[in-house]
Amino acid sequence: MPDIRAMCAIGTRGQLGLRGRLPWEGATGPAFVADVERFFEVTRGHVLIAGPRTAESVPDFARADRTVVAIRSGEAPEEVIARYPGRVIYVGGGPAVWTAYAPLIRHWDVTRLPYDGEADRWFDPAWLVAGGAA
Ligand SMILES: NC(=O)c1ccc[n+]([C@@H]2O[C@H](COP(=O)([O-])OP(=O)(O)OC[C@H]3O[C@@H](n4cnc5c(N)ncnc54)[C@H](OP(=O)(O)O)[C@@H]3O)[C@@H](O)[C@H]2O)c1
Repeated sequence: MPDIRAMCAIGTRGQLGLRGRLPWEGATGPAFVADVERFFEVTRGHVLIAGPRTAESVPDFARADRTVVAIRSGEAPEEVIARYPGRVIYVGGGPAVWTAYAPLIRHWDVTRLPYDGEADRWFDPAWLVAGGAA
């Protein structure tokens, strides 16, 4: 069984994204800084698959010690996963990607941050109970 995981950070009401960025982009509070640091620690050495917009937002320094892959909706999740045998695969979003891969994800790592502002991308709790092959 492939080791497929997901990692995300959400606001207090499930906010995930805003205008192509994290809704709390630029926030310097300790919880926000710790979350970014932890994301890079936890995904180090692993495969990170994400939709084109999310994959593009990964900074260059983070590409040296993880495999960052932009995936497209024309690719079947099972085919994408099969390209990385023996690797831990993190599914990095956005929402349409998590909807498609949720049945395959067996570990969710969700950090709730102290952000209560606007968003145009939202966490969907249905991802956690999507059933499937995980
Ligand atoms: N808070 C967090 O932890 C977190 C994490 C990730 C992203 N975000 C936020 O989310 C936003 C970016 O997400 P986004 O949804 O706008 O764009 P995205 O990252 O490009 O992801 C969505 C796109 O992925 C592609 N895709 C690849 N495989 C797919 C599949 N099997 N099924 C469906 N679509 C698939 C589709 O594009 P095609 O049809 O063109 O292939 C789809 O439009 C930003 O605001 C970002 O900051 C937040």
